[in-house]
Amino acid sequence: MHRSLQQMGFYEERVLPRVVEVTCGGKRMEQVRRPALVGLSGTIVELGFGSGSNVGLYPSEVERVLAVEPSTLARERAGTKIAAHPKPPIEFIGLDGAQLPLEDGSVDAVLSTWTLCTIPDVERALAEVRRVLRVGGSLHFLEHGISMDSKVARWQRRVEPVQKKIGGGCHLTRDAPEMIVAAGLRIDQLARFTIGPRVFASMSSGVAIKDDA
Ligand SMILES: C[S@@+](CC[C@H](N)C(=O)[O-])C[C@H]1O[C@@H](n2cnc3c(N)ncnc32)[C@H](O)[C@@H]1O
Repeated sequence: MHRSLQQMGFYEERVLPRVVEVTCGGKRMEQVRRPALVGLSGTIVELGFGSGSNVGLYPSEVERVLAVEPSTLARERAGTKIAAHPKPPIEFIGLDGAQLPLEDGSVDAVLSTWTLCTIPDVERALAEVRRVLRVGGSLHFLEHGISMDSKVARWQRRVEPVQKKIGGGCHLTRDAPEMIVAAGLRIDQLARFTIGPRVFASMSSGVAIKDDA
C-alpha cells in the first residue's frame, strides 16, 4: 500500500522528486527511454509517472495516458510538461501501482520506467498490471536491477539498505524480467545493458505480453 504524505516526510516528498528528475531525466537518459516506448499504442497506464520525464516521447499511436504517481511534488512538476504536450491527454488516476482503479482487461499497455525498483509491493503491482491489460496487451519496461557480475551484485546487496533509505524505497537487487515472468507475462523483447554508476548500471528494457486471461 502507498505511504501517506505524512509518512513520506520532507526529504522524500519535497527533495527526492527533484533528484530523480536530474538523475533519470535529460538527453542521455532520453536515448535509453525512447526504445522502451516503441510500439506503445491506445490507452496506456504509466506506473510511477514521476514528474513526467516520458512526456513528449510517447509514440503518436498512444491515445490516452492514465498516470499513477504517489508524489504530490512530482505530479505538480509534471504539470508544465503536460501543458506543453496536450496530446496524448494525461490523467492522474491513482497513487499506488499495487491498487489500480481500473476494470480487468481495460488497457492496451502499461509503461514502467525505473519504477518496479521502488514500488513496495511489486508482486501485487505486477499482478495488477496483468489484471488490467487486455489479452495481447503489453508491459513496456526499462528498469535497473541486480548485476550479472557477482562482484557488483555483492556491492549492490551491501549498499541496498542505504539506497532504500535515500532513494525512496528504491531496491538495487530486484530482477525485473524475472519478476515479470513470475507475474504470468511472457517476455517478447529483452535488452540488457549497462549505463551509469556501477550499482545502478545494470539495465533491462523490453516488452512483455499478456497471452491469456
Ligand atoms: C526512480 S522514480 C522514476 C520516475 C519515472 N518513472 C521516470 O522514469 O523518471 C520511481 C517513481 O516511482 C514512484 N512510486 C513509488 N511508489 C510507488 C507506488 N506504490 N506506485 C507507483 N509509483 C510509485 C515514485 O514516486 C517515483 O516517481
